[in-house]
Amino acid sequence: MLLYESLADEFAAQISAGHMHPGDRLPSVRHLAQQRQLSVSTVVQALRTLESRGMVEARPQSGYYVRVRHGRVLAVPARQRLEKPVVVGLSQRLLSVLHANEAPGIVPFGSALPSPDLMISQRLSRLYASVARRYPQLLSGTSHAALNEPLLLRAIVHRALEWGCAIAPEEVVVTNACTEAMSLCLRVVTKPGDTVAVEAPTYYVMLQLLESMGLRALEIPTDPQTGVSIEALDLATRERKIAACLLIPNAGNPLGCVMPDAHKQRVADMLASRNVPLIEDDIYGDICFTPARPRPVYAFDRSGNTMLCTSFSKTVSPAFRLGFVAAGKRGAEIALEKTLTSGKSNPLCQRVMAELLDTRGYDAHLRTLRRRLADQVARTRDAVMRHFPGEVRVTEPAGGLVLWVELPQHVDATELHKQAIARGIGFVPGEMFSANGRFKNHMRLACGHPWQSSFDDAIKTLGQMVCAASVTGGV
Ligand SMILES: Cc1ncc(COP(=O)(O)O)c(C=O)c1O
Repeated sequence: MLLYESLADEFAAQISAGHMHPGDRLPSVRHLAQQRQLSVSTVVQALRTLESRGMVEARPQSGYYVRVRHGRVLAVPARQRLEKPVVVGLSQRLLSVLHANEAPGIVPFGSALPSPDLMISQRLSRLYASVARRYPQLLSGTSHAALNEPLLLRAIVHRALEWGCAIAPEEVVVTNACTEAMSLCLRVVTKPGDTVAVEAPTYYVMLQLLESMGLRALEIPTDPQTGVSIEALDLATRERKIAACLLIPNAGNPLGCVMPDAHKQRVADMLASRNVPLIEDDIYGDICFTPARPRPVYAFDRSGNTMLCTSFSKTVSPAFRLGFVAAGKRGAEIALEKTLTSGKSNPLCQRVMAELLDTRGYDAHLRTLRRRLADQVARTRDAVMRHFPGEVRVTEPAGGLVLWVELPQHVDATELHKQAIARGIGFVPGEMFSANGRFKNHMRLACGHPWQSSFDDAIKTLGQMVCAASVTGGV
């Protein structure tokens, strides 16, 4: 372990054990450097590590302080032993939950999509009409050889530099959104019966992809503040044959945490040295609430082992179905798989996206979107704190648009969901985020819509249902 990591871990242990309290000031950098006989840069790195773990905060001209947490934060899970890889059997149950959540009039705590009110729909439709007029050939022709519109490729490569990723044009494949990007990667690096390591809990569509390809899921314990457990991943990749690792290190769904940079470096090195391909989903990277846009693991990987998948579904339009994969050393294989699966992604949409990304207004849109999502997440969280029973724990996400709520042990969130739908309220029950049927007493609340008073009423109703279930010993 590096010196700064062990110093960071030492402070983290003090804070977690309650020996240092929210608002306590940490010793100054100079004092710590002298006292521990470390360089100033080592101490600064340790403090930044704690900051990225959300445990301390820097106050200008004043130093570092133990972060004041807002209420009942979901804490580090108890160390769980590694489970066995399992065949996934989720899709049918999941589909009925998703259908119920999307019925007209249901309070939209179900799907993790930003409301159309937060998107730049008018600008998009104007641009769409203008591109169709200027480039009519994009409506009638396509290519089987060139999968990417050159202008979009340039915009992707250019933007990725801002988040520390030197993407080579030849490794990029534009896809039908993020789901297709991940699906292509899985198809290239796995065969039926293989095992894929995933976070626990993880985004249910990833589990569905494994199910549809006859793959087994190995759930790796995941910390609500720092992401997947490095120790467990180390153990899994040493002791078992893992065909690929499928992770969401930036504001993952459902936990919303950002993996610290030091962890990202370790994940990149460990998986590259063991030749376990990493499929990284960075769909929430652009909507993190951290001061700087967090880098993906891809930025720490010099070996070409990481395949970075993302899309514009959370930032521009989920209906556009446009994303890409930067596939590292597997670019050519992914391109062939894409050609055989669905051919070139809509060239007109590609051109529209390229022109949109090229405008200054796009960055302003992202800033507004991040601010509004952070506000919606905070308001929803605040309502949960007010209306749910005291023992309930809630994540404090560093980005994205969902909250993960831990209910009292015996409350069955799937049963609760049926009752909630009958009262006109949607959400996704926790067991949909696990191939092992875990997280039965959890729920995911999406916060994609601007806050309104009826949402407070809906959270109050959910809180009353949770209270009733807690009293009667179950729903
Ligand atoms: C982590 C994650 N990845 C991928 C997706 C789906 O992305 P797309 O609509 O671009 O396929 C979602 C949508 O909720 C998501 O939360």
